[in-house]
Amino acid sequence: SVLVRSSSSAKQSLLHRSFSSSSVPERKVAILGAAGGIGQPLSLLMKLNPLVSSLSLFDIANTPGVAADVGYINTRSEVVGYMGDDDLAKALEGADLVIIPAGVPRKPGMTRDDLFNINAGIVKNLCSAIAKYCPHALVNMISNPVNSTVPIPAEIFKKAGMYDEKKLFGVTTLDVVRAKTFYAGKANVPVAEVNVPVIGGHAGVTILPLFSQATPQANLSGDVLTALTKRTQDGGTEVVEAKAGKGSATLSMAINGVPDVVECSYVHSTIIELPFFASKVRLGKNGVEEVLDLGPLSDFEKEGLEALKPELKSSIEKGVKFANQ
Ligand code: NAD
Ligand code: LMR
Repeated sequence: SVLVRSSSSAKQSLLHRSFSSSSVPERKVAILGAAGGIGQPLSLLMKLNPLVSSLSLFDIANTPGVAADVGYINTRSEVVGYMGDDDLAKALEGADLVIIPAGVPRKPGMTRDDLFNINAGIVKNLCSAIAKYCPHALVNMISNPVNSTVPIPAEIFKKAGMYDEKKLFGVTTLDVVRAKTFYAGKANVPVAEVNVPVIGGHAGVTILPLFSQATPQANLSGDVLTALTKRTQDGGTEVVEAKAGKGSATLSMAINGVPDVVECSYVHSTIIELPFFASKVRLGKNGVEEVLDLGPLSDFEKEGLEALKPELKSSIEKGVKFANQ
């Protein structure tokens, strides 16, 4: 059955409830930026996920429509749409997982870093509310530039005295998805069987796919590997240009693989000298259980690793500085 009601303080909120006798634990997921190009398919995926019992859709606009649409799907979770800053506390209260695709996407000719001035402020505001209303939640940062937007909550959470580095993730899955797709094409192997770790960060040269560790193994020439690396680094820009001003990748963000405990993510890290770094991480109920070693790198990848460090370092410092000013 479905219940639709208006929340008292938020005229436009909608509640849709479907009942379940399931014994799966209660889990509340909040999506901030839920009405956007990423937010909408992500809301759909979360509604389809049987592990979610409560889905909180927050945006500055258009959440009633998204909540109504998604909320009628006959799966376990109740769906509530929240709109505007007055509703942020309610959207976040009790959340176990907060996913943040709030902010502006690139247009052709822009770098992800060009989004910093707008998105850093949005992220800072939202993460200050997370510190207050759901300090124990896992946080998945999608808003770009991820290399800088992840250090922002880390600083805010430290100041609030609730920073748990195991619970903060920059979403870099798309780099892995692209690396797998491009590799499968060149190696002529079924894409579903391909695995490729991608390390570093989530912008240009900071994206470093480790094709030397790709499985199934294929004997690709140095030139092909160089081209595959560049294509993976430029995958987001290709989509931005192909969409010609109408946003960046959203559909390929809507991925939800078979649950696996090892994924690449941009997290607090001590495996190289930079405090945030994307690599394989082992996930558990409370977040990162282990940041895995990089494993053996080819000479080409070792060079790529050295080359990405200055840009990634300065992107991290930019986020830290912004959060502390
Ligand atoms: P979009 O413009 O379609 O959607 C963004 C949504 O954020 C909009 O609905 C907007 O109303 C909302 N928003 C803006 N300010 C907000 C605030 N203060 N609080 C709550 N919501 C707010 O953009 P999109 O295509 O969904 O992309 C969103 C972000 O994700 C961009 O920064 C983009 O660069 C980034 N992105 C990251 C990855 C990744 O792999 N990490 C992939 C694709 C896009
Ligand atoms: C991507 O990799 O597609 C996203 O980071 C969006 C972008 O701006 O490229």
